[in-house]
Amino acid sequence: MMLFMNSTAPFAVYVHWPFCLSKCPYCDFNSHVRHGGIDEARFVRAYENEIAAAGARASGRTVSSIFFGGGTPSLMQPSSVQAILDCVAKHWAVAPDVEVTLEANPTSVEATRFRGFRAAGVNRVSLGVQSLEDKALKELGRLHTAQEALDAVAVARSIFARYSFDLIYARPQQTLEAWAAELKRAIAEAAEHFSLYQLTIEPDTPFFGLHKAGKLSVPDEDLARDLYDLTQVICTDAGLPAYEVSNHARPGAECRHNLVYWRGHDYAGVGPGAHGRLTIDGRRVATATERRPEAWLMRVEDKGSGFTVEEKLTSGEAADEYLLMGLRLVEGIDPARYSALAGRSLDPKRISILREEGAVETTKDGRLRVTRNGFPLLDAVVADLAA
Ligand SMILES: C[S@@+](CC[C@H](N)C(=O)[O-])C[C@H]1O[C@@H](n2cnc3c(N)ncnc32)[C@H](O)[C@@H]1O
Ligand code: SF4
Repeated sequence: MMLFMNSTAPFAVYVHWPFCLSKCPYCDFNSHVRHGGIDEARFVRAYENEIAAAGARASGRTVSSIFFGGGTPSLMQPSSVQAILDCVAKHWAVAPDVEVTLEANPTSVEATRFRGFRAAGVNRVSLGVQSLEDKALKELGRLHTAQEALDAVAVARSIFARYSFDLIYARPQQTLEAWAAELKRAIAEAAEHFSLYQLTIEPDTPFFGLHKAGKLSVPDEDLARDLYDLTQVICTDAGLPAYEVSNHARPGAECRHNLVYWRGHDYAGVGPGAHGRLTIDGRRVATATERRPEAWLMRVEDKGSGFTVEEKLTSGEAADEYLLMGLRLVEGIDPARYSALAGRSLDPKRISILREEGAVETTKDGRLRVTRNGFPLLDAVVADLAA
């Protein structure tokens, strides 16, 4: 398999900021609480060094999107965000219409920094609203109320041309009626984009222990399916259809950064536990960095980067990844690109069985995509096609 990334293809930079004020009991992201504070300037120097290392590996690219994810990047000083963006611009060309997103927790403290983030170059925020019900927010261990979240959305609206927010549904005891009402209130606050995630119970989280002990019950498969279907109907009616399993946007307002992942383009991942995919000498290479923040910091200071994985993907791995990511999108995948990556075509017999079952369809322009009915079974569909 040889891949040649042309220099005009989208290229993204992901910056992981791994610190939070408290750990939410459902979350298994690489996020940590440091009650004693951190030496932010020292961390920023390490990000700059790792960006330089990534820049050397993937030179000559034009950055089309940058995403500060976490953890809670809205806890960063705007001057730190500025320094990191300046460093990105030092090592790569940056597209004039670059999308720069920062994930923010919707507390009043963080909203006061929004103007500083915009001055630093951020042009889109993604707010972790999670719920518009105070009782649910408490159960989710959130540090903000629904009103505080709405106030943060209003501040975001006044400062950024583009904003998005996240909600978690299929929560304990959630009914269809309650979710419909909450979703409609959220839609009234959403401008162009939001992400709606079904609650998943992740191993090694407090929710996992509670669930195992029978102290936390989440909707069963049937109710989860009904909640998903209802979500699709309400959002489509409101002009915010899904363009990915959990992401909704007005046409043209999709998150360009996440599209880079789902469409199988290149991205550099910097910061503790960040993953990247780079085309180097015509081969797709997976990168990953040390996860533990302080160990990452010391590794960067010692070796110039925190990379612990740099692995050339085989043609089968690269093709399966394209399938796995691309079928999350409503636009689906290009079977010819799959064949070029895999060195073989998708099995037509398997496609026709899945088509008869109503799980996939082929579009007029020859793309293969999962149907709305197939989306709740996505993992099984991908496993079937990849096998
Ligand atoms: C890594 S978080 C970062 C956002 C920010 N720290 C916050 O919490 O507001 C990204 C999003 O993942 C979602 N998420 C995290 N854990 C989840 C889980 N177990 N089930 C469903 N969604 C989850 C939440 O909606 C969250 O906003
Ligand atoms: S959901 Fe967000 S705030 Fe909560 S622990 Fe995870 S990353 Fe931190």
